[in-house]
Formats: sequence, structure tokens, C-alpha cells
Amino acid sequence: MVKNKNNKAIWNTRIKKKTSLFFRKVGNSLDVDRRLYKEDIVGSIAHVEMLFKQKIISFKVKNKIIYGLKKIEKEILQNKFEFDNEYEDIHMSIENRLSQIIGEESGYIHTARSRNDQVITDLKMWMRSSNYQIINDIEKLIKTVIKLAEKNIETIMPGFTHLKNAQALSFGHYLLAYIEMFTRDKKRFLNNFESLNENPLGVSALTGTSFNIDRNYTTRKLKFKKPTNNSVDTVSDRDFVVDYLFSCSVCSMHISRIAEELIIWNSDGFNLIKLSDKIVTGSSVMPQKKNPDLLEYLRGKTGLIYGNFFSMLTILKGLPLSYFKDLQDDKELIFKANDNLINCLKILDEVLKNLQSNKKRMLELAGSGYITATDLADYLVKKHDFSFRKAYQKTALIVNFAEKKQKKLENLTIEELKKIEPKLTNDVLKVFNLKNSINSKKSYGGTSFDNIKKMIIIYKKNL
Ligand code: ARG
Repeated sequence: MVKNKNNKAIWNTRIKKKTSLFFRKVGNSLDVDRRLYKEDIVGSIAHVEMLFKQKIISFKVKNKIIYGLKKIEKEILQNKFEFDNEYEDIHMSIENRLSQIIGEESGYIHTARSRNDQVITDLKMWMRSSNYQIINDIEKLIKTVIKLAEKNIETIMPGFTHLKNAQALSFGHYLLAYIEMFTRDKKRFLNNFESLNENPLGVSALTGTSFNIDRNYTTRKLKFKKPTNNSVDTVSDRDFVVDYLFSCSVCSMHISRIAEELIIWNSDGFNLIKLSDKIVTGSSVMPQKKNPDLLEYLRGKTGLIYGNFFSMLTILKGLPLSYFKDLQDDKELIFKANDNLINCLKILDEVLKNLQSNKKRMLELAGSGYITATDLADYLVKKHDFSFRKAYQKTALIVNFAEKKQKKLENLTIEELKKIEPKLTNDVLKVFNLKNSINSKKSYGGTSFDNIKKMIIIYKKNL
């Protein structure tokens, strides 16, 4: 509860009874929003400097308040600040401590301001830092992916559709697909700055203020780009939270996709990759086990981040304007998504640094499942002027034949092939070579080794 110096709630003149003890416990957000203390102090300092500049408070009061706020910051940094759950949130805790330090003049701090604009000002500033940190971690991850891709330009593996062997590709090319995803993630977080750069401070409770404040001044001081346009929207709006949580969700979805894929490839059935001992865990009962727990952690956390995103959307659904207590839960969702996403980005980075492709096994698997069938169909089109559909049917007959004979396509003799398509000559045998298959995919964005090399140069330049 918010108290005055007589240890009574600030609103006790109006509200005669103490708020229910149980609600005071569960309705308070200090344990969550104490993470906003720095932003709250910086925001308050900018606010009182503006009040002084506008001649709304005196020089002496402004300096006293700033002195008190800086002292509080030091106390918090040195773990000397008592976070008392009796005070509803970080804003009230700091205001209360300020009154203990400088006395009654602390009361000037809340002139022309409400917690409604104060809390989103703090939150937007905090989210800007979070955005920077996430972008930074995504960039680090992109660098790691590029390094791994560089080592695997000529590593041949099957590309899958429906988890069935589809066409041969380079493991490097596969990895570069994730660079595209993480680059889009980065862009999403960069886009978030647009709304995060609008300054809410000064809209007060919901209608603005009759004091002659200067919102452009606090905008500059707090490194925002412009003040928000509409006071009612400002205190009601959490679209920027939804955007942020959506960005976190998509990024973690990408992480979960690579995690799942690597879990499958690490399975004994596939055995396409090797994880170093640093990134596996053992079993309490099965001595032989090396389990990919880190990857499972990544896949699982995505569920939590989606939960944060859906929770926020649900809180906002049908919520009238303007401020309601419902909105208080936004911070917990943001902090949790931030923490989980940053952990996931760091863990994936570590996994990729400790992962090796099992090149021999990848090649072996790529050699199964008639993976060069499309190459044969393309060959019939190019060499013998078939329509693609006709070539497709001919190739299907050849695959059926190979399957019946329990042979790989490349092990069929030219005589056997000719029985199905008399036009074929020895020349056809080269299309069954996996390396040829990969290097024939020279179209922009395709998997040929040369394409990959060129793309890596571009990705490095874009870093
Ligand atoms: N702790 C509150 C929150 O995070 C601050 C805003 C309180 N405003 C109010 N009108 N009760 O939402």
C-alpha cells in the first residue's frame, strides 16, 4: 500500500479502511517492477528538471529531489534499499523513500504526472534496452551460424520435405536459411523502436495536464523521438508490448525449429550431427546416454514465450480505455519473455559452437531414397526435350524399377535404363552424382557451392 509519513495510505483521507490484507499481498507488483528502478529514477529526474525549467517548482526543490533520487539509486545498487511489499510498486516505493530522505518537499515530484504515464515511460525505456540486447545477441548468433556454414559449404546431406529425403543440399546452405530467419527477427526488433521512441511522459492520468509542461524537453532528455499524440491512447496503449512479445515469439519459434531439427538429427536413427560433451547431459539410470537437453530446453521455452504473448493479447481484449489494473501484468510478461529469449539465444549460440556435422553419415543418408530422381527428370527435359510432366512419369517408372530390383538409381545399368527410356545414353549417369546435383542448383538462392560462397560474403558484409 502507498503510505504517507504517518504510515497511513496516501488515500486514507478518502478511503477509511485499510485495503484487504490479502489483496495488498497479491495485488502488489514490487517484486516484478523493481527491475524498472533505474528508468524510474532517470524518468523522475527528467520530469523535475522540466518542472523547474517551466517554473513549476523551485530550484531548491528540484535539487533536493534529484539529490534524494540519486541517493536512492545508490542504495539500490548497494543492496541497501529496503523493498517493502507494503508499497504497491516501484514508483510508490521510491516516492516513499524520497519522502523519508528529503521530507515533505518530495511531494512536488508528482506534480503534472500520474503513475499511468510514469509506468509506461519507465517500461518503454526498459524495453528499448532489452531490444538492443536482443539485437546484439541475434547478431552474435548470426556470426556463429556463418562460421559453421563456412565449415560446411561442401558437406552434402539430404534436404527433407515431410522428413523424407527430397533433394541433396549442402549443410552450409541449410544453415544459411537460419540466417535469413534471424535477420528477419533482427528487423522485427528494430521496427519496434518506432513506437518505443514515442514519449508517454506528460499525459498524466488520462487527459493531459493543466500545468504548463514541456513534453519536448523530457522527450529529448529521455532520448525519445517525439511525444505521444493522444493522452487517452497513451495510458491505454500496450500495442508496443504486443509487438515486442510477437517479435520474441517469432524469434523463439525459429530457435525451436532449429532445436527440433537438431534433436532429430542427433537421434541414433539419424546420427547426422555430433554434440560435444559440453552440451549434453547424462541419465541417472542409463549409463550410455548423452541427451540433448539444451536443445529440448530451447524447444520448450518457446511455449512459455508464446504464453506471454497470448496472455497480453487476452488482457487487452475488450479492455475499455483508459488505465485499468489489468495492465499491471504487462511487465511480468515482458520480463519473462526477455529473460527466456536472451537465455535461448545464448544457449543456441553455445550449441552451434559445440556441434559437428557427421559428414560421412550425411552423405550416406543423402545416397538413399532416390534423392536424384528430380535431377533425372530435369535431365530428360533438358537433353531430350521432354515436357516436365512426361519426364516426371518416365522417372517415376525408373524409380519403381530400381525399387523392385533393390538398386540405387546410380547402380542401374545403361541397358536397364534404356529398357524404360530408349533415348538415354551413358551421359545420364552423371545426374546421379550428388555433388553434380547440388552444383546444378545455380539459380539465385539455390544450394550450389558457388552460391553459398557468394552468400556468405554478403552476410558477412551485412553484419
Ligand atoms: N503499478 C501500476 C502498473 O504497473 C502503476 C500504475 C498505477 N496506476 C493506477 N491508476 N493505479 O500498472
